[in-house]
Amino acid sequence: MTEQIQNGLAAADVLLEAIRNRRSMGLSRLRPDPVDPALIETMLDAANWAPSNGDTEPWRFTVFMGEGREKLAELFAAAQKVEDAEKGSPSHDHSGARKRAFAAPVWISIGMTPALDESGALQMTEEEEIMAVACAVQNLHLTASALGLAGMWHSKGTSVSPAVAQGLGLSSPSRLLGFFMCGWPSTEWLTGERRPISEKVIWFD
Ligand SMILES: Cc1cc2nc3c(=O)[nH]c(=O)nc-3n(C[C@H](O)[C@H](O)[C@H](O)COP(=O)(O)O)c2cc1C
Repeated sequence: MTEQIQNGLAAADVLLEAIRNRRSMGLSRLRPDPVDPALIETMLDAANWAPSNGDTEPWRFTVFMGEGREKLAELFAAAQKVEDAEKGSPSHDHSGARKRAFAAPVWISIGMTPALDESGALQMTEEEEIMAVACAVQNLHLTASALGLAGMWHSKGTSVSPAVAQGLGLSSPSRLLGFFMCGWPSTEWLTGERRPISEKVIWFD
């Protein structure tokens, strides 16, 4: 094995360790303590180095932390109100939705704003733009894990509500793809598991 290959494998080992150590840890596993904004900036910088077809850089983030989560609480409560009305059960108590915004010290909305040409048409497909945002979130999450911060991409319910999207300026053709919530872990770091890669690859060699 050449020295170049040996050095390459050693570098890949460090990277692989970070990749394997990245874990999804939800709200119940986060301590309420605040997180230094410098760490969030480091995560966002990593996200910004994601690839995108056509260099469209479609990832858009909004960070809510500290008192700033009050704005998120309003958005979650407004979304809950819309959802309740749609279900035909209007309610005035949206305290659960409001409370959720304070259940993590940091929330980062994951937005996708596609590049448009002069005629207003998509420069790339929506699929390509979403894939680029997913690459950005992976960079963000890997960096969070490397910093020791627990976090998770949440992509269901209120996290993708049209009312929340609108409040974040992510109306069509933009999309709200969820939220990344994070904080210092309150539990042991989780261990992951994967089925063998051999089950998912076909080689022709
Ligand atoms: C695009 C995307 C959306 C996700 N949305 C949710 C979600 O809504 N709720 C949830 O509990 N986990 C969500 N997850 C986290 C997955 O459950 C998690 O990645 C998976 O269980 C593997 O665990 P690991 O990330 O620790 O390796 C999401 C992950 C991705 C990539």
